[in-house]
Amino acid sequence: MMNPLHAHHYADDAVDLRGAEIVENLQLARDTWRVRLQCPELAARIRPGQFIMIRLHDCDDPLIGRPLALYDTYDLGDDAEAESSDTPAGIDVVYLVKGKLTTALSHRRAGDRVDLWGPLGNGFAPVAAEHLVMVAGGIGQTPFLALAKQQLGSRGYGQSQTAHAQPSASRVTLCYGARTAELLAGVRDFADAGVDVRVCTDDGSHGRPGLVTDLLKELLDEDPRGQRRQVICCGPEPMMEAAAKIAMDRGVACQVSLETPMACGIGICFSCVAKVHMGDGGWDYKRTCVEGPVFDASAIHWER
Ligand SMILES: Cc1cc2nc3c(=O)[nH]c(=O)nc-3n(C[C@H](O)[C@H](O)[C@H](O)COP(=O)(O)OP(=O)(O)OC[C@H]3O[C@@H](n4cnc5c(N)ncnc54)[C@H](O)[C@@H]3O)c2cc1C
Ligand code: FES
Repeated sequence: MMNPLHAHHYADDAVDLRGAEIVENLQLARDTWRVRLQCPELAARIRPGQFIMIRLHDCDDPLIGRPLALYDTYDLGDDAEAESSDTPAGIDVVYLVKGKLTTALSHRRAGDRVDLWGPLGNGFAPVAAEHLVMVAGGIGQTPFLALAKQQLGSRGYGQSQTAHAQPSASRVTLCYGARTAELLAGVRDFADAGVDVRVCTDDGSHGRPGLVTDLLKELLDEDPRGQRRQVICCGPEPMMEAAAKIAMDRGVACQVSLETPMACGIGICFSCVAKVHMGDGGWDYKRTCVEGPVFDASAIHWER
């Protein structure tokens, strides 16, 4: 009998990298930074929706790593080595300064080092939709840039690097909600990638005043019988629950990327569990690190 705790996405393909170099660490918005990490082997394997665990290299506090999503991979500049290679040089990660790790990371500069392991998690399932609608709240936009580029065919990841990317969606929209304009991070990156970006803020300081779920409702109702659509959400759980309901009420498939706190990232500690519905009408706990972080929204038993 198969071990019921077996998961398909253990860290079998992960690289454990001690002392990865920080290439740059740029502030994008209030309390929000993008760190560029040199890690070619990891970058060649990671796919949209997967994440890494990260620790400081020169300091044991915090002792436990923190999960951060892939924002994008990057290539070297126009030097000879880059021209002779079609594999990426490393990854970009965008983080909100929240507690111990992210505060310390925001003080690191180019040339400093971090420890990281990954790629981890399942990543986004292939999207078979003409119109991909991504819904982000707070710092939830971070897993979506690479997904958008992959769907629009401008960049490849994992087994299919840049040269082999195939577009699979003709249209990608990002509905992005933040508390205030100063917290919006990476809007230009999405627009430059060809994404139709629709922004709202709680205080009305940029874009539409109000909730990102209102943007989603409006978008889905614009053309209910038009292109085949799929919704993907990441952000605070009440937002994801509401967005998933809006999508599913309209018969639109929905995936969610959960951001449960994690300790090991590799399936051992069970600190990251989410409650999911099982086929038999019951429920069970699933580990977000090895059975997620991406789940079909209809499977999630939302906790209130
Ligand atoms: C798969 C995955 C991908 C993620 N990707 C990103 C990303 O790309 N960018 C980003 O900024 N963050 C991301 N996160 C969230 C990030 O890992 C946490 O915010 C992390 O705790 C920050 O570490 P810290 O040491 O700075 O804060 P900590 O010292 O760990 O925590 C600060 C405070 O936040 C609370 N907290 C910790 N984790 C969470 C959580 N998941 N949800 C709500 N509250 C929490 C703690 O209880 C504490 O009060 C991701 C999480 C997961 C699971
Ligand atoms: S973080 Fe340890 S099992 Fe998921």
